[in-house]
Amino acid sequence: MITLVVDAAELGPGQTRVVEHRGTSVLLCNVDGDYYALENRCSHAAARLSVARLDGCLLECPVHGARFDVRDGSVARRPARRAIRTFPVVVSGGKVEIQLGP
Ligand code: FES
Repeated sequence: MITLVVDAAELGPGQTRVVEHRGTSVLLCNVDGDYYALENRCSHAAARLSVARLDGCLLECPVHGARFDVRDGSVARRPARRAIRTFPVVVSGGKVEIQLGP
């Protein structure tokens, strides 16, 4: 299992941060103290979501305005139609662990 570790103190509520590992770019989001991780790539036209606006649990792509629910990657507003991949997150001892899989 590949796990990326981020210090929870580095990411305040309402903030996002990009974490990269071997070609995989992950956007970590802090929604009122709960952390969610999803692929840093819009499912509409593959834009990076690094500068997307996080409003509550909704992430808005800056290119065409699609919105995604960061809790499960689902589409909340078109033009996107497909969900974004998400990654399990575990918070332990002030660390946020993003589980990328085997
Ligand atoms: S690239 Fe994100 S909405 Fe089009």
